[in-house]
Amino acid sequence: MVSEISYGNWITHGSQVEEDAAKECVKAALDEGITTFDTADVYAGTRAEEVLGRALKGVRRESLEIFTKVYWPTGPGPNDRGLSRKHITESIHGSLRRLQTDYVDLYQAHRFDHETPLEETLKTFDDLVRQGKVLYVGVSEWSAEQIAAALKIADEMGFDRLVSNQPQYSMLWRVIEAEVVPLCEKEGLGQIVWSPIAQGVLTGKYLPGQPPPAGSRATDPSGSNFISRMLTDDVLTRVQELKPIASDLGLTMAQLAVAWVLQNPNVSSAIVGATRPEQVRDNVKASGVKLDAEVMKKIDDVLGPIVERDPAKTVSPPKRP
Ligand SMILES: NC(=O)c1ccc[n+]([C@@H]2O[C@H](COP(=O)([O-])OP(=O)(O)OC[C@H]3O[C@@H](n4cnc5c(N)ncnc54)[C@H](OP(=O)(O)O)[C@@H]3O)[C@@H](O)[C@H]2O)c1
Repeated sequence: MVSEISYGNWITHGSQVEEDAAKECVKAALDEGITTFDTADVYAGTRAEEVLGRALKGVRRESLEIFTKVYWPTGPGPNDRGLSRKHITESIHGSLRRLQTDYVDLYQAHRFDHETPLEETLKTFDDLVRQGKVLYVGVSEWSAEQIAAALKIADEMGFDRLVSNQPQYSMLWRVIEAEVVPLCEKEGLGQIVWSPIAQGVLTGKYLPGQPPPAGSRATDPSGSNFISRMLTDDVLTRVQELKPIASDLGLTMAQLAVAWVLQNPNVSSAIVGATRPEQVRDNVKASGVKLDAEVMKKIDDVLGPIVERDPAKTVSPPKRP
């Protein structure tokens, strides 16, 4: 079981926000009933896991689900990346140390590694489950074909099956709908989706033709790289047109965005980020909100051609980064 809304610390912990703010966000998340926390070995050059470990210290471990990931580089060498037995084994030990825990609840392959035999990765994950260092295994941004291949090997070899996928999913980015979701529904995997608010864009706070608001991700040196492709006048103008839909429902724009992803029955949890505790308190109110077919259609009509639906956009680097 995971909380319908989870809290993730990419860009923020160990980087954009000071440790006190990070701890306040985690405290707000816990106070609001979030039990699921997502991080990765690579975030802020491994510092994000350390911050989360300190922020969760003293919280009853059994009341939390802690997720982390492996794949992106955590050091300079050729073995400091990817999904080889060597890197996965070394990386989980680092993650457990930094998170100050004996096990993680979900361990996710942060992309598909075209340079490691899939059997090697899955056998290593299975070994970590047997060792009790990892309770469940999942993937992130894998295509339907890659997930299907992994399930086939797991079934043939008797390995633990993947339980989840962590894709980007929002009103603006729906590339999982055509292939990944139908496969996962059939095979019993849930989606733990990232950037449901499109990194802040779907709050409506970025206005067309105007500089980004002070202190927002678009002004952060590391964060701005990731958000910039969405900051076009066409996207920002259409997003502004969602405001009456949100206000008619008595929702904030962030709540509408999070509620939207949760309407998909294959979505197990929406991972929200936050730089301030008020954002966490705002976003969690999307839990339990139902959007009817008419509202969903109005959203589609407003966004029109800016919605990305091409399943071919789920891609992992052809070589290890
Ligand atoms: N698997 C992957 O490859 C992958 C990739 C990316 C993310 N993730 C996971 O998904 C998590 C969430 O990603 P994300 O941070 O991009 O999610 P998001 O929830 O779409 O965006 C979060 C950012 O939007 C702004 N924001 C959030 N709520 C707001 C509100 N109520 N009002 C105004 N601004 C608000 C904040 O940034 P500012 O205050 O700075 O504007 C916040 O840091 C990550 O932490 C990570 O765990 C995974």
